[in-house]
Amino acid sequence: MTDVTLSSKNPTAVKAEALVVATAQTSDGVAVVSDLLPTDLLTQLESLAPQLGVTGARDEVRKIPAGPQLAAEVLVLTGLGERADDGTFATETLRRAAGAATRELAGLESAAIALPASDDDEITAVTEGALLGAYAFNRYRTTGKDSAKDATKAAKNGKDPVATIEILTPLHKNAKAKAAAERAQVLAAAVHATRDLVNTAPNELYPATFADAAKAAAKDVKHVRVTVLDDKQLASGGYGGLTAVGQGSSRGPRLVKVAYTPAKPNAKVALVGKGITFDSGGISIKPAAGMEAMKSDMAGAAAVLSTVVAAAKLNLPVAVTGYLCLAENMPGGNAQRPADVITIYGGKTVEVLNTDAEGRLVMADGLVSAVEDGHDVVLDIATLTGSQMVALGTRTSGVMGTDEVRDEVKAAADASGELFWPMPLPEELKSNIKSKVADVANSGPRWGGMLNAGLFLQTFVGDHPWAHLDIAGPAFNEGGAHGYTAGGGTGVGVRTLLTFLEARATAK
Ligand code: BES
Ligand code: MN
Ligand code: ZN
Repeated sequence: MTDVTLSSKNPTAVKAEALVVATAQTSDGVAVVSDLLPTDLLTQLESLAPQLGVTGARDEVRKIPAGPQLAAEVLVLTGLGERADDGTFATETLRRAAGAATRELAGLESAAIALPASDDDEITAVTEGALLGAYAFNRYRTTGKDSAKDATKAAKNGKDPVATIEILTPLHKNAKAKAAAERAQVLAAAVHATRDLVNTAPNELYPATFADAAKAAAKDVKHVRVTVLDDKQLASGGYGGLTAVGQGSSRGPRLVKVAYTPAKPNAKVALVGKGITFDSGGISIKPAAGMEAMKSDMAGAAAVLSTVVAAAKLNLPVAVTGYLCLAENMPGGNAQRPADVITIYGGKTVEVLNTDAEGRLVMADGLVSAVEDGHDVVLDIATLTGSQMVALGTRTSGVMGTDEVRDEVKAAADASGELFWPMPLPEELKSNIKSKVADVANSGPRWGGMLNAGLFLQTFVGDHPWAHLDIAGPAFNEGGAHGYTAGGGTGVGVRTLLTFLEARATAK
């Protein structure tokens, strides 16, 4: 990952390949937003802006030669849009602008960022944004690397992210500012690790290798233990959901527990993640078009793994256990059929009406197991339904659950800069998942599909404090990069989960 330091250097004197400065839209044109650059340079840039096509709009990034007044080679102007009424910019705006800029720095060795960074919140946003934008997944490229000097072209051709970033701030020696930057680095590493897992090809990442990846991620991290149940142990242990979904694949399912147990925890939290390493739909097979995106159906489990590791690295005084529910949903000769009746861990029976509603089956095993283990609160995160995207689009995740926990997740999402929106679990829709033969059916009518899935999961947590995060759309960006969000795996959920854990660490 890109190396970040806080620095008190003057932006005119900093010898980096690129210097990043913010622009904004004002009533009479463009403003260059900087307390640190000399006024004559600001005026000069502002008057040149129209000719350069610089408007200061959000998400606009322009690169120009730095000129004789700066020691840097290239000046990167990143737009913040209009100021809020109080004259400031939202932290999420800073985060996005920093990320959009660093994405354009791929292939460079060094950059300095002179965005507003004069309090902890701004330092957090700029550091997070800069690191989240400095991400590339080039593992599978054998050509195009290091070929272009032009960084934009290079980013597309597989250049590595900028190697080092100096964030210019008057608070470079302030202890709280330094802690904020360190936290941002742990958090960004967790998001990157999640993206890497999501982007890994499904012929490489399947339940057994995902379990290996969990062990590797937890290796040398203090107070973290990984335990793995393999397909045989799952079958004999009564984990009927994981077993049924996994049986159509030659690569068997796994339930991986990743437990972080600090010395004196203030709370005990379970995180359950959907880890379908590929979702073909099974016998209820999906159409060919777009099926490749279903390598991302393990994004929930990836977010859980990275969050637990990050919680440990931050020494949070919260005990956290991640439950990674891993299976590959394939239509092999031993695959489950529509009409099968299976028994989830703990004894409830499910009629499988649609083998493509597999996520809720593996999650049911994980949720019962988590409730049994006695946590204060259980959160689950899953790319669970296409209906989530119909309801909320590809950038906003849904959150359902018991009222208080749902609101707590929403607050954590707001604080972390992730888009989540609360959804109801109406009692009267329970009839949608009634089965003619078993305790519950795994699918119902199309309408309200996200809520039907949430209600299905609720069956297995009872009235335990719980929230369900449906990240189906936001987990995988099929379009172009935007702000600090790369194409492909986004790592959504990690920041919200970590912020939730931090709140639990200090509450009560
Ligand atoms: N993994 C999918 C949900 C999904 C769809 C995630 C698109 C990301 C993008 C899930 O397993 C699924 O197939 N859900 C079905 C359930 C239905 C058969 C009841 C759906 O939502 O269509
Ligand atoms: Mn499915
Ligand atoms: Zn799925």
